[in-house]
Amino acid sequence: MSFGITRYPGSGKWPFCCGQILLHLLFFCYICHFVTGHMRYSIPEEMKKGSLIGNVAQDLGLDLKRLRSGRARIVSGESIQYTELKADKGVLVVKERIDREQLCGETTPCSFTFEMILENPMELHQITVEITDINDNSPTFKRDSMHFEISETAAVGARFPLATAEDLDVGFNGMKEYFLSDNDNFILKQHSNAEGKKYAEMVLQKPLDREANPSLSLKLIAVDGGTPQRSGTVNINVAVLDANDNAPVFNQTLYKATVTENALKNTYVTTVNASDADVGANSVVTYYFSDLSSSLGDLFKIDEKSGVILTTGSIDFEKDKKFELQMHAKDHGGLTDTTKVIIEVVDVNDNAPAISVMSFTSPVSEDSPPGTTIGIINVKDLDSGDNGQVSCRIEGTAPFKIRTNLKDYYSLITDSVLDREMISEYNITVVAKDSGAPPLSAQRIFNIKVSDVNDNAPVFPKSVYSTFITENNSPGVSVLILKANDPDENQNARISYILEGKNIAGSSVSEYVSVNVETGVVLAGRSFDYEQIKELVFVVKAQDGGSPPLSSNVTVKLMIQDQNDNPPQVLYPVQTGGSMVAEMVPRSADVGYLV
Ligand SMILES: *[C@@H]1O[C@H](CO)[C@@H](O)[C@H](O)[C@H]1NC(C)=O
Ligand SMILES: *[C@@H]1O[C@H](CO)[C@@H](O)[C@H](O)[C@H]1NC(C)=O
Repeated sequence: MSFGITRYPGSGKWPFCCGQILLHLLFFCYICHFVTGHMRYSIPEEMKKGSLIGNVAQDLGLDLKRLRSGRARIVSGESIQYTELKADKGVLVVKERIDREQLCGETTPCSFTFEMILENPMELHQITVEITDINDNSPTFKRDSMHFEISETAAVGARFPLATAEDLDVGFNGMKEYFLSDNDNFILKQHSNAEGKKYAEMVLQKPLDREANPSLSLKLIAVDGGTPQRSGTVNINVAVLDANDNAPVFNQTLYKATVTENALKNTYVTTVNASDADVGANSVVTYYFSDLSSSLGDLFKIDEKSGVILTTGSIDFEKDKKFELQMHAKDHGGLTDTTKVIIEVVDVNDNAPAISVMSFTSPVSEDSPPGTTIGIINVKDLDSGDNGQVSCRIEGTAPFKIRTNLKDYYSLITDSVLDREMISEYNITVVAKDSGAPPLSAQRIFNIKVSDVNDNAPVFPKSVYSTFITENNSPGVSVLILKANDPDENQNARISYILEGKNIAGSSVSEYVSVNVETGVVLAGRSFDYEQIKELVFVVKAQDGGSPPLSSNVTVKLMIQDQNDNPPQVLYPVQTGGSMVAEMVPRSADVGYLV
């Protein structure tokens, strides 16, 4: 810190004095002729108490004795409290802190003036002390912070006036310039008004983006030109106001979901979610389907607010295996995004197999070889996977089996030789069962009749029939009934009884007996004479109506019983006429002579 002394000879007229009141001027004029000198000192403000302002005695050419004898003292002037005359040393020192800013404010130069008076003879010396500025004040803002609310749509070039800073110091020490803390969006423009006061505004040079930076914290720094430099700061808070500059964005470009067929109404499917980087109403998103085919609208609904997709109708895997929904999100500003929801339908075993008969032959001949095809059936199951995997079998035991040749087609074939005479009719149950859990099945009963083949000959219960007949019978009398059995049916079991041709005693057997072809009744052909024929043996054939016919023989023995139909006759001696028989017996015949 340095200070100098400036001497101003003659009476001075100060701009500083101009404002004095009239009385003061009169007083000055009255004492004018005593003034012998005018001293001018310059010191910086804020000097320590007792600091030297100037050596008045030396500068005025007065010795210390004169000062003492003249009782030198400071008498008038404003601000005399700042200085003190040390008469014993002839120096003027600082008596009290001098604050230039308090003393003069913005006025420059800053000085105060007073008189030093000496008596015997009276002398009056005017002393002016100029106070030079030191940089003891920082630029200051009236408030700590500023607050701006700026829309993110604010155009580049938009201006925002900023608070001004004051620095009580003057000149170089006064307010010099502003700085804005580093940022991407704003630059600072500085201006001076007509009085030279500096002010600044910030200018938007890059658009704001609330989504990237919802608020900015800047500092406006005001610096003075002093050395060392002093500064003042005000915080600038910029709140970026939202504009609907962001469309909603779905979290996924594709959503996948599954739903079980036959799911109840209001079954949860999935939730779509879109976010909107804006805030407030600009970020409120609603969801909806687009260009829905009417059937989709019947099956699904979406909650407009939550994006939850629920079923509304019953879903049939057999109709639709997959759905694709076009989903939209829209914010209140009308900006939209689109995504896709693919809903796979999961099959449920809700369809039983269906059996349809393609061909069926009944009756089936009993001589059909094993493997003969009786029917062809087709089995369908609308479900898929295991739920549609069908197996076919015959319930119970029967001489039939099921064979698959083509997918879904089954042949019903004979598995062994059939015998109508044993079992003439089968009711077989074909069961088709899928592999679902639980499985579903269908069944169908086939009534199979076995048709007859002439594979059985008529059979007589006995190999030989014997019976008796009394002679002298009337011709045509029934002798016995022959009955053969044939297990075949109809024509194949229709038995004809035929007398096999054989001669008896030179004449045809048919002259003795006849057999009713249908009834098997054996009739006597004549009246038998025991005395002529005692026994008849003949063969009867039973023959069925099959083609070719089958037959069997049976032997019939007819024994003729005697009746007392002849008187005894004398055969010797032969009778000659009359009934008298003469026999000659010798006289000499002894007792015991055969007559
Ligand atoms: C087969 O079923 C039919 C009809 O139900 C019935 O009249 C018939 O007696 C059954 N036959 C056999 C051998 O069970
Ligand atoms: C039945 O008898 C006739 C005549 O005696 C004979 O030709 C035929 O072969 C016999 N048939 C049977 C099945 O024994």
